[in-house]
Amino acid sequence: MRIDILSVVPELIEPFLDHSIVKRARDKGLAEIVVHNLRDYTTSRHRKVDDYPFGGEAGMVMQIQPIDACISHLRSQREYDEVIFTTPDGETFDQPMANTLSLKNNIIILAGHYKGVDFRVREHLITKEISIGDYVLTGGELPAAVIADAVVRLIPGVIGDEQSALSDSFQDGLLAPPVYSRPAEYKGWKVPDILLSGHEAKIAEWRYEQALERTRRLRPDLLD
Ligand code: ADE
Repeated sequence: MRIDILSVVPELIEPFLDHSIVKRARDKGLAEIVVHNLRDYTTSRHRKVDDYPFGGEAGMVMQIQPIDACISHLRSQREYDEVIFTTPDGETFDQPMANTLSLKNNIIILAGHYKGVDFRVREHLITKEISIGDYVLTGGELPAAVIADAVVRLIPGVIGDEQSALSDSFQDGLLAPPVYSRPAEYKGWKVPDILLSGHEAKIAEWRYEQALERTRRLRPDLLD
């Protein structure tokens, strides 16, 4: 899978995608992630990518020309399944959406600035608008990195034990059960006996009950 991320501050994004599981996925060639600086696509002599809004509102607006030039350049090289814009008024990102996106071949994510993107970009160039939650961030760079991270870890082969991505919270509509590691007792705090019993069927049953109990208590909306 290939993910192209378009931004005016690309240096904000790359560090998040250059560690741990996502880095391993990139190194193994399972995910290709390319971050583009929109300033490289402007026709402006001063590498300007924004301008004043028509109608005299406050703030600057990201111009359509560099965004269109970058997207057109990418589209001339391969087909894209989605061109995503990160914005607080988009569809709320969740695990099913991450699952769907992880099955795509190529996606573009435009890290936008709310109120700050010429609306014609959204009208003519974008196929999907995604919010990562009901709060407003200063830019779409973190949301773009969040989406890329959640999607890449689902690509088959990225997480060694595939079972482990499937048993994540939300994958079966339930929160994940608790996990413990050694030592079996620390400062008098004990790991539940059942996990040390070696009884696989009973452990599986315990995990399911814990998942159900935690979901009922913490996220009853998921059971509706
Ligand atoms: N840009 C600013 N805030 C955002 C949010 N919550 N989700 C996606 N993009 C954003």
